[in-house]
Amino acid sequence: MRTPFVAANWKMHKTVQEAVDYARSFLPLVETVSDVDIVLAPSFLALPALAEATAHSRIGVAAQNVSAEPHGAFTGEVSLGMLHAVGVTQVIIGHSERRQLSGETDAGVNAKSRAAIDAGLTPIVCVGETLDERETDRTFDVLDRQVGKGLAGLTPEQVAALVVAYEPVWAIGTGRVATPDQADAVHRHIREHLTSHFGDTSASACRVIYGGSVKPGNAAELMARADVDGALVGGASLDPVSFAAIVTASRPSTR
Ligand code: PGA
Repeated sequence: MRTPFVAANWKMHKTVQEAVDYARSFLPLVETVSDVDIVLAPSFLALPALAEATAHSRIGVAAQNVSAEPHGAFTGEVSLGMLHAVGVTQVIIGHSERRQLSGETDAGVNAKSRAAIDAGLTPIVCVGETLDERETDRTFDVLDRQVGKGLAGLTPEQVAALVVAYEPVWAIGTGRVATPDQADAVHRHIREHLTSHFGDTSASACRVIYGGSVKPGNAAELMARADVDGALVGGASLDPVSFAAIVTASRPSTR
């Protein structure tokens, strides 16, 4: 049994104060939830304050990106050591917006994932096809490449402990959500890929979560699918009540 993993990706939203206010409203809403791993990913600036505000809860705090380099002349970058020092426990790697807008490559995703694991942080590795790739029947090829290259060189134990987020690019921020059948087919494919490269034990432990226009109204039917182990939520995570509803819909007892 995989514990559901539900993460809020706030992208470039919320000041430090807004992040702390959010935590104040959100924590009581999920206080009794012990069967879902919950993670909040604010901007870099809000990480220390949010880590402090959630310190006595089960909620983890994730960065939205990181450098693979330990230190040095990398203007504008943030290292894993810096994140670790303020209590960050996970890091989103290879989000499609970073792939599209900031030139993130599969090799970069691989370097960051390895470095994150070495530093004791859990990578949330994002993969997903564009609309054009889906319409020209290349979805599985694209995912095989992204997962294959992104996780290359990791051990089965390391893969078992990380999170893969399947986020079809055409569903992110568009309100156009993958159907449960579409999501399930891809999640099963990713798990088969993991099985053939890292073995059955590793593939059955690795959480494969879905992202792309997840809302309180569609979360339950997505989470009901056997291979959908949680969600990475953008827009609908900005409101604590809405995100708490998605967390509730992901609980094994309600799935
Ligand atoms: P969305 O974003 O929920 O707003 O579609 C998801 C994501 O980009 O992680």
